[in-house]
Amino acid sequence: MSDLLNISIIGAGFTGKQIAEWTLLHNFKVYIYDVKQEILEDTEKFITGSLKRKKKMELINNVIYTSDLSLAVKNSDLIIEAVPEDIGLKKKVFSQLDKLAPINAIIATNSSSYPVSIIEDAVLRKDKVLNIHFYPPISLRPMADIMRGTLTSDETFQKGKEWIEMIGCAPLVVKKECRGFVFNRIWRAVKKECIEMWAGDYADIEDIDTAWKIFTGMKMGPFVLMDAIGLDTVLAVEQSYYQETKDLRDKPPKAFEEMVMRGEIGMKTGKGFYQWKKS
Ligand SMILES: NC(=O)c1ccc[n+]([C@@H]2O[C@H](COP(=O)([O-])OP(=O)(O)OC[C@H]3O[C@@H](n4cnc5c(N)ncnc54)[C@H](O)[C@@H]3O)[C@@H](O)[C@H]2O)c1
Repeated sequence: MSDLLNISIIGAGFTGKQIAEWTLLHNFKVYIYDVKQEILEDTEKFITGSLKRKKKMELINNVIYTSDLSLAVKNSDLIIEAVPEDIGLKKKVFSQLDKLAPINAIIATNSSSYPVSIIEDAVLRKDKVLNIHFYPPISLRPMADIMRGTLTSDETFQKGKEWIEMIGCAPLVVKKECRGFVFNRIWRAVKKECIEMWAGDYADIEDIDTAWKIFTGMKMGPFVLMDAIGLDTVLAVEQSYYQETKDLRDKPPKAFEEMVMRGEIGMKTGKGFYQWKKS
């Protein structure tokens, strides 16, 4: 039995709410924090709906929604940070968590691109930080990358790995620091090529999605998947690669940046690469 019993999710947006739901369904006590009250209400509806559908309403007593960060982490054994992909914000949140959480709590980031080694300066507990990166929807893709910071202890790593297994996910172990972790690096290459094909008008997105579905047997193509993830998040990840490499080949195409600036960020706003009913 793991000694990680109380799990705190910081940031209850697209990914955070799914990690919270999945963790709750695997019998952990879950504390959910967000800076926006409407997001907390939305997350409560999402999780209650899921518990009802799965006939697991008894688990409703194991979840706490709060806009008080100290309450969210005061009993925490493991904290998963899932705030937007902004390095300054992540450092700020890590620093707050370090001050408020019990001394033994592990703090992990669900960042899609930043290694925890560039966040760890924000905390004193450098031996207790991790990257734990999910691939929502978790029910369809039950796996998570796990990667160390420069001083992460073996004990922290082992506990993180066991927790991933306990919530029914495959741990994808990063053996040495790697931007993009295990599978996100592969997926990033696909996204980058797709965006360049679209920006250069080399082929229609429908054809690329069709090709991908036939080739891989998947139900969705990369453009639909990117619309589901949120193009703001996709762009932020692309920008973080470019910031690191300064290689012009990593610079996101201008047309893609402009699309995100116009608020065309996918399913959440009703328009991205495709048109959607606003979710
Ligand atoms: N979208 C994906 O498919 C995906 C997949 C894996 C990992 N991620 C990563 O997860 C993180 C979150 O991405 P997302 O797509 O869920 O973003 P999102 O914008 O949907 O959600 C982020 C949430 O964080 C909240 N927030 C903002 N500042 C906060 C703060 N200081 N404290 C607490 N909450 C705060 C926002 O109100 C929002 O609800 C990013 O690092 C992203 O790279 C995203």
